[in-house]
Amino acid sequence: MSEFAGVGISYRPEFADFQQRLAEVVDCVEILFEGSFPVGKEGTEVLGWPHQKAAHAMTLSPARADFQIQPELRLLLAEARDNGIVLLSDHLSYSSVGEYSVPNFFSCTRTAAEADRIAGNIAALREAAQMNVAIENPVTFLSQPSDAMSETQFVNTVLNTADCGMVLDVNNLYIDAKNNSFDPYDYIRSLDGDRIAYLHVAGHAHYRGLLVDSHDSNVDAEVWQLLDFALGTTGAAAVILERDNRSATEEVIMSELDILRSIWNRHRKGTACAA
Ligand SMILES: [Fe+2]
Repeated sequence: MSEFAGVGISYRPEFADFQQRLAEVVDCVEILFEGSFPVGKEGTEVLGWPHQKAAHAMTLSPARADFQIQPELRLLLAEARDNGIVLLSDHLSYSSVGEYSVPNFFSCTRTAAEADRIAGNIAALREAAQMNVAIENPVTFLSQPSDAMSETQFVNTVLNTADCGMVLDVNNLYIDAKNNSFDPYDYIRSLDGDRIAYLHVAGHAHYRGLLVDSHDSNVDAEVWQLLDFALGTTGAAAVILERDNRSATEEVIMSELDILRSIWNRHRKGTACAA
């Protein structure tokens, strides 16, 4: 559903000292929307790469009740387009209420009416961005008593009503499955696999009996297995490694990209070439 394809990295400014090495081994690159636009911030050297690029946002909050496309956002989206961004993603969630923001994602209430409303917001975002939009599954620690749909029913309804793609974060899914005792493989089987634009993979932390989406540790062996299954059963066109800050050495990040490439080659070899 977009030109964004292959094995990639979610780029961070802390990778600048080995960016050339990274550029040589990936097909595509994801950049952080809020950290990159307006252009001129630290880390935007990656905009000069010849690779296909997606912008990943944290704060657009397409599920919030008072979602609106502000003029300032239109300018930033135009700047992203002008800098070669072909795909915009954020989370199926909201992280702000009124003027208050939190560095986390609130769960949606899973009803048909909410799916319809949020799909309308996503369609408005795609219209403003003038590019494909994909929505990621955040970690959801709690179900709400008013939920009337399963998570995959809700996600599929939003994707099809908005006619948008999904970023399936297999680490988030693994965390949810462990914390809430469900089968992540069944979850993937229940998704509309043709809607999956790309996959995220990352590490997680253990905290007081729960798993937490920390992006600061090595990818777990069971998450690699889940990624392998997701690539084999969905239409995902790309896989992206998320590593925050410099939580790993250059060699660890390069070796995780090697693993990613080997899993990719089992399913999609030849469908994307290194730039
Ligand atoms: Fe993610």
